[in-house]
Amino acid sequence: MSDKKLEDAVPDAPPHVLRDGNKIPQLGLGTYPMDDAEAEALIPEALWRGYRLIDTAVNYGNELGVGRGVKASGINRDDIFLTTKLPGRHHGTDSVRRSLEGSLERLGTDYVDLYLIHWPNPSVDRYVESWRTMIELRDQGLIKSIGVSNFLPEHLLRLEKETDEMPVINQVELNPQYQQELLREFHAEHKIVTEAWSPLGRKTDILQHEWLSEIARSIGRTPAQVILRWHIQSNILPIPKSSDVTRMAENLDVFDWDLSDDQMRRIKMLHTGLSGSGFDPLEHEEM
Ligand SMILES: NC(=O)c1ccc[n+]([C@@H]2O[C@H](COP(=O)([O-])OP(=O)(O)OC[C@H]3O[C@@H](n4cnc5c(N)ncnc54)[C@H](OP(=O)(O)O)[C@@H]3O)[C@@H](O)[C@H]2O)c1
Repeated sequence: MSDKKLEDAVPDAPPHVLRDGNKIPQLGLGTYPMDDAEAEALIPEALWRGYRLIDTAVNYGNELGVGRGVKASGINRDDIFLTTKLPGRHHGTDSVRRSLEGSLERLGTDYVDLYLIHWPNPSVDRYVESWRTMIELRDQGLIKSIGVSNFLPEHLLRLEKETDEMPVINQVELNPQYQQELLREFHAEHKIVTEAWSPLGRKTDILQHEWLSEIARSIGRTPAQVILRWHIQSNILPIPKSSDVTRMAENLDVFDWDLSDDQMRRIKMLHTGLSGSGFDPLEHEEM
């Protein structure tokens, strides 16, 4: 495919500008639970369909496949935004550098666009130390932007207090059933972009909710598109995962139409406060 055709597939949507000045697309592709082989086959398909943001992690065990897929796509590395994450077992100082070097090697690149602390793991109490090392690695050019995942305001404030630097992004569980309004307000006050994992509510039944089906039917869209458009209009950056190329394309086709204020209000009422994963960052630890 020609470069022009490839670029034509990218949605015409201005990126989010992070507090550090870097830019990130408004929607990305999640890759859990793809394995290396699946990621290697699917990442080019996603990139050819216009995705430019790919989300992976050491703990997904697919960085090698993601890196191979990026190369196989033929798209310039600089035009792709790659996110990976620091696992709990690598929190520390030297271990963070080693972990990132391993990720870079598997991804086949000399920098990542965004590096996140995957979970705060408060009982281990090494996320501040890890953050300090991430600041250094960013300053050395191995990472463009640094952020976190599954952090609560108390963890974010502690980073600011002890290092003078807040993350540019917090990636958290968020979908119409679990809207995280207070956390989003905190993020907005501190210029932190809210990125949503399980944006379609995997492990919930939200995609089957009749109100979403009604809205979808009335505008000739699908329930998944309605949910993703709700994220976009709420200034949330969703990273839906799909291993199906038709659903991948469907999930990216959310930029040249709008939900009405009424439809947005209806979706706001779907909040139940029930997380699909049941993971509380104060208690849940991932190594
Ligand atoms: N930071 C963290 O702690 C954390 C935790 C969990 C996930 N994540 C990241 O967030 C990404 C997304 O979250 P998630 O995978 O948990 O949930 P999700 O994106 O909300 O849902 C994925 C599920 O929805 C299905 N799906 C996708 N598009 C669809 C459509 N248009 N219609 C109907 N079903 C559709 C997928 O099946 P098909 O594949 O068959 O289409 C898959 O079963 C992950 O892949 C991962 O990158 C991060």
